[in-house]
Parts: sequence; C-alpha cells; structure tokens
Amino acid sequence: MKKIVVAIDGHSSCGKSTTAKLVAKELGYAYIDTGAMYRAVTLYFLQNYIDVADDHGIKKALENISVTFKRNVKTHRNETYLNGLNVEDEIRKMYVTDKVSEVSVIPAVRHAMVKEQQKMGKKRGVVMDGRDIGTTVFPDAEVKVFMTADVITRAQRRQQELLAKDQMVDLDIIIENLKKRDHIDSTRAESPLRQAPDAVLLDTSHITIDEQVDFVMDKVAAKI
Ligand code: C5P
Repeated sequence: MKKIVVAIDGHSSCGKSTTAKLVAKELGYAYIDTGAMYRAVTLYFLQNYIDVADDHGIKKALENISVTFKRNVKTHRNETYLNGLNVEDEIRKMYVTDKVSEVSVIPAVRHAMVKEQQKMGKKRGVVMDGRDIGTTVFPDAEVKVFMTADVITRAQRRQQELLAKDQMVDLDIIIENLKKRDHIDSTRAESPLRQAPDAVLLDTSHITIDEQVDFVMDKVAAKI
C-alpha cells in the first residue's frame, strides 16, 4: 500500500495531537508532534537564558540542541527528549507554553525545525501535526486537514488535560494564552499558521474524537 504524509494543522488545543496519534496508530505510521519540538527548544532557551533577540546566542544554541522522540514501552506514549533527557512533562507546563510562540517566531529556529521535520518524514508514512505542515514542511502532503474549534471549548479541554496532570490553571488564563498564541502564530512573517488552499477544514467544537479520526481516515482512504 502506498505510504503518504498526513498533515494536521490548526489552532492550539483543538484536538490535533489526539487525532493525529490515533490516525497514526490505525495506519501503523510514525506520529510526529512538531509542537513538542518547538516546546523543547523553548525549554532549552529558558534553561540557558538565551535571549530571543540574541542572534548569535540562538545560532550557537541551535547547534547544541537535539530533539528526539522515543516510545515509552510501559505507557506506549511517544515521549520527547532534549539532548537525551526526557522532557515530556516539563515541556507541557505553563511556563513553557507561555513562551513557546515567541521562540517559534524566530526564523533560525523555524529553519532548523522544518529541516528536521522534513528529514523525519522523508520516507513518508507519517502523521505530523503542527501549524505549518501543509503549507511549509510538506506542501506536497497527500492529506491536509486544518482543525479549529471555538476558544471556550478549546480552553475547557486544555484545562481538563492540565488537571489530569495535577496542574490547576484558571480558565481565563488558558483562554488568554490560547488567544495570544493563535495571534502570534498566525501573524508571524515566517511560515505563519494558516489553512493551506488545498487543506480541508474540520471544526471540532461539537464532534467527538472518534468522529475526528473517522473524518481524517476517510480522506486517507481516498489516497492510499
Ligand atoms: O502544538 P502545540 O500547542 O504543542 O505547539 C506549541 C507552539 O509551538 C504553538 O503555539 C506554536 O507557537 C509553535 N508551533 C509552531 N509550528 C509548528 C508547531 C508548533 O510554530 N509546526
């Protein structure tokens, strides 16, 4: 069977990664969470006091950063490693989430991440989620889905996810963070968040995860 690239882009917290993971599992494809890569770079910048305006410091930092994914055999979760250290939980914390869009604006950061992502998907057979997969990373992806949902629904879902990890965050703070990230992500000069002209729109405000997965699998079935 033909191996393809499935690109899932869209706004923050509308179910992209949950859908992408399940689609990858059904297809036996690799799942690449590109947001985790930007989060890991952000964590490195925070830990090493890299200023987002310091071009030289950023260039040096990028030479020293390696982001990889490894499957946890006990939990069956894909986990993110920064220079060999498991940072899966750390990169999901609010202090990283607060900063990640500012770091993701930097062209040198984007170039480095896009290059890595293209390498990871070179042999195809991947489901990748992010903001610019269908527009920049794999403009030739066979399936492109652009996901969105209303901001309150997204914030409530994110709050539940954080609660499951014992992090209690006020709904208003989450709404502000989502709006801020969407704004920065869609107005940046370099590979902004936008729906590719050939991507199909999926509004997840009122549908279940199973319905989201079925929607993507239908698109996939038409291409393989
Ligand atoms: O997907 P997630 O919410 O974890 O992504 C975190 C942040 O990483 C986004 O808000 C965005 O700023 C950045 N990002 C990006 N390009 C991608 C994936 C994520 O700029 N392909």
